[in-house]
Amino acid sequence: MFNLFKKKRDLYTGEPFPVTTDIHSHILAGIDDGSPDIATSLKLVKGLYDLGYRRLVATPHIIGDYYRNNPDIINRELEILKNACAEAGINIELFAAAEYMLDDYFLQILKQKDILPVYQNFILTELPYSVLPMNINEMVFEIITAGYKPILAHPERYFYYHHDLNEYFRLKELGFLLQVNLLSLTGYYGPPVTKAAKFIIDNGLADFVGSDMHHLRHLEILSSKETNVILNKHIRDKGFNNF
Ligand SMILES: [Fe+2]
Repeated sequence: MFNLFKKKRDLYTGEPFPVTTDIHSHILAGIDDGSPDIATSLKLVKGLYDLGYRRLVATPHIIGDYYRNNPDIINRELEILKNACAEAGINIELFAAAEYMLDDYFLQILKQKDILPVYQNFILTELPYSVLPMNINEMVFEIITAGYKPILAHPERYFYYHHDLNEYFRLKELGFLLQVNLLSLTGYYGPPVTKAAKFIIDNGLADFVGSDMHHLRHLEILSSKETNVILNKHIRDKGFNNF
């Protein structure tokens, strides 16, 4: 029975998953709105490993009003997850950074340089979904002046850019690198988000893609045949996340 199931699943996976490194996920246990416990974290990591991922960067939220995570908290949870994966025999590289909301609290920690980059000096940032902050230009200036390169998480999900997709060209000119969520291409977040995600990718504006994995439902959709076909159509051979 097990073999039958496995065979069926292999048939489903017509082509290899198009990326093996993830730079955006909420797989650390209990410190943001992602995985609630270590058992779920293990399931998420195992699922990503089975899909073909071999390197994951966990990026818990840091949002002044909600999640005041810091490098100590994040690295402590990273060690717990690494140990759990080793015990479970999951051979995957795990790293941790953060997803920084561009708020006043971020400016404080930026001044203290208490920042966890995704790699080198690249930091993952996000904006509120419905209202564009007035000081976004200054924020980018502060980040670059402090010696970092800002990656903007899921630009396709910010509603205020949907009325004029050329805004994405301006974000690049401002200094952002853009990270599209894989699930945005599948319709998971709704048609306007899919349209924006395709625009960003088709115009060569995307620098990275991410799973933004929060829970098992995300994993389920990411692992489906339909998603595999869509992702291979849009992002295969584009060299995303090769660093
Ligand atoms: Fe995220």
